[in-house]
Amino acid sequence: MTPAMPPVLDPDLDGTMDRAARHLLAGHLVAFPTETVYGLGADAENPAAVARIYAAKQRPAGHPLIVHLAPDADISYWTPRLSAQARALVDAFWPGPLTLIVERAAHIPDDVSGGQPTIGLRCPSHPVAQRLLSRFAGFRPGGQGGVAAPSANRFGHVSPTRAEHVRAEFPGLSPAELLILEGGPSTVGIESTILDVSGDDGSPPVLLRPGHIGPDQIAAVLGRLPASAHADSPQVSGTLKAHYAPRTPLILVSTDQLPAVLARHARSSPPAAAMVFAGPANRLPSIDGLDYIHCDPDPENYARNLYDRLRRADAGGYSLLILEQPPQDAIWQAVNDRLGRAAAAFDTDR
Ligand code: TXA
Ligand code: MG
Repeated sequence: MTPAMPPVLDPDLDGTMDRAARHLLAGHLVAFPTETVYGLGADAENPAAVARIYAAKQRPAGHPLIVHLAPDADISYWTPRLSAQARALVDAFWPGPLTLIVERAAHIPDDVSGGQPTIGLRCPSHPVAQRLLSRFAGFRPGGQGGVAAPSANRFGHVSPTRAEHVRAEFPGLSPAELLILEGGPSTVGIESTILDVSGDDGSPPVLLRPGHIGPDQIAAVLGRLPASAHADSPQVSGTLKAHYAPRTPLILVSTDQLPAVLARHARSSPPAAAMVFAGPANRLPSIDGLDYIHCDPDPENYARNLYDRLRRADAGGYSLLILEQPPQDAIWQAVNDRLGRAAAAFDTDR
C-alpha cells in the first residue's frame, strides 16, 4: 500500500484557508510558504501540536521555534517588554525576513521556546502566510494566536523553498496530519536573519543567524552594528556546525583551486557535479564525467535558487558536489554561512 501523501492545497480555492486554519486549531500541522523558506506550522500555544513538529522533523528537543504573527498581531501578547531598539526594528523590517528574540510572556507555554525565557517572533511578508496567520488568530480566543514554525525539512537537511520540496520531506504523513499550502517559490530563498534583542537598550543586539537583512541595514536603523554570537549562545540549530546539508557529499573550493580539484574528480563514477559561477573569467574545460551547474553571480539570486539547486543536484545521483566558493564579501555573508555549514556535514578532505 502506498502511504497517503500530504496534499498540496491551492490557497485561492474557496474554503482552503478555513480548512488550514481549523487544522491548526485542532492541533495538526500546516506547512505554509514564507518569503524565506516554507515553514512547518503548529499552534504555538498548544504543546501537543508543538510536539508534533519535533516528531515530524526528528528534531532534538530543546531547539526553540520561531512564532509567526499576522501583520496586525499585538506583540505585547507575546512579550512583556519590547525595547526601543526592538520596536525600531519591527517598524523598519516587519513584515519581512527578520526574526527577533525577545523576552517571553509568562502565559506562553515554554515548549515552543525549548524552555528558554525568550521567544523568537517573526511577521512574514508572504501573502499566503499572512492570510493563514490572520485566519488562525481570528479563530482563537481574543483574536490572538501565533504559528510556531521551523523550516519544513527533516532536521539537518536543506530547507524547502517550494511546496513540492515539503512534500518530498514528509511523504509518510497523512492528510489528517499535514496539509501543505502552495505559495510558489520563496523569493528570498534562505532563512530569516535572527537578532537577539532580549537585552535592554544599553546592550547591542546579537546576530544569531545572518540572512537577507544584513548588518549594515540593521546599523542604518539602530546607529550601531549588531554584535556577533558567542559559541555558547542559546541553541540555534541553524548555527550548528553541520546543517543545511544535501545528501550528496559537498565540498567548497576557492576559484584558484577549482581547476586542480575538477581535474582530480574527472571521470568519477557516478559523475561529480560542479556548481560554478558563469563569468568569463571562469571558462572551465569540459571534463568527462563532470557536469557543470552554473550559479548566478548576484548574491540575492544565488540565495533564492540555492536550496532548489542542491535538491536537484541530490536527485541527479552525483557522487560529489564541488561548489565554487563565493567571494568573502559582506553581501555574501548569509550565503557563505549556509554553504559552510552544508560542507561541514561531510569529510572535507577530498
Ligand atoms: O526564515 C525562517 O526563519 C524560517 C521560516 C519558516 O520562518 N524558519 C526557520 O526556523 O528557519 P528554524 O526553526 O529552522 O530556525 C529557527 C532558528 C532555530 O535555529 C532556533 O534555534 C532559533 O531560530 N531560535 C528560535 N527561538 C529562539 C530563542 N528564543 N533563542 C535563540 N534562538 C532561537
Ligand atoms: Mg531550519
